[in-house]
Amino acid sequence: MVVYNQISEIQKFLSGLNRDKQSVGLVPTMGAIHEGHLTLLETARSENEFVISSIFVNPIQFNNPRDYNKYPRNINHDIELLKQAQCDGTFIPTIDEMYPNPSIISFNFGTYDKGLEGAHRPGHFSGVGIVLSKLFNIIKPDRAYFGQKDLQQAVIVTKLSQDLHFGVEIKVVPTKREADGLAFSSRNQRLDTSQRKDASRFYSALKIAQKALNEGQPVNKVIQTVTHYINELENMSLEYFEVVNSETLNPVSKINSKEKIALCIAGFVGEIRLLDNIYLDEN
Ligand code: PAF
Repeated sequence: MVVYNQISEIQKFLSGLNRDKQSVGLVPTMGAIHEGHLTLLETARSENEFVISSIFVNPIQFNNPRDYNKYPRNINHDIELLKQAQCDGTFIPTIDEMYPNPSIISFNFGTYDKGLEGAHRPGHFSGVGIVLSKLFNIIKPDRAYFGQKDLQQAVIVTKLSQDLHFGVEIKVVPTKREADGLAFSSRNQRLDTSQRKDASRFYSALKIAQKALNEGQPVNKVIQTVTHYINELENMSLEYFEVVNSETLNPVSKINSKEKIALCIAGFVGEIRLLDNIYLDEN
């Protein structure tokens, strides 16, 4: 696996490919590679001739400077894992390489970035949109791979690729979970033993809510149950639990069997913020 730090280097490699016959799958990451990323890489490997990953902790998508500073970074270990995952190349630019000048652009994704994460992390999706536009322009992948765990990101990136004619097919890969249901996430590395144990409550809360909604309990009652279930632990707090249409991301107040529904949750264990979601009809 070749590591590229400069845009010109990776573009030189890509220009040597016969793009009519050799498709490129991109797995963009912020590093701290975990099994969730490995599932994205595996899917990309099975669908493309070349797999490129990127590692870049994008400063402009963090609304909380402490979260940015504390974001786990372990480049050498990441490179080892990416090699083992048979990634052909990885792009690891510096901040100056990606932002030679501060970006003057900002994205507004209409109703798609107003709720859920967007409501709690101002500017987050604009930052994600900018960095992914840069990566799509630099690498020009045929496909790009995102985890379902970040459902709102996946929906917004799909819109971005369509709206701006990037021609990148956005693939959303089911969430990979630990044995107790906790979704793999780079931020899990920051949890101490007792926080790690409590963190699985987010998934349990989603399963409790799924069962209750499927049994016909009203949405507002289920929201109360989940709020109580998370907040009853002293070191946990719920930021939101929402029942939404999984395509429009609009909140749903009544379950309608014709809509594909997602249950979305985010909150804190200590100062570490985690998020997760499941579909109402998934096992
Ligand atoms: O999901 C992430 O890790 C990031 O938001 C992404 C897609 C790599 C953009 O920085």
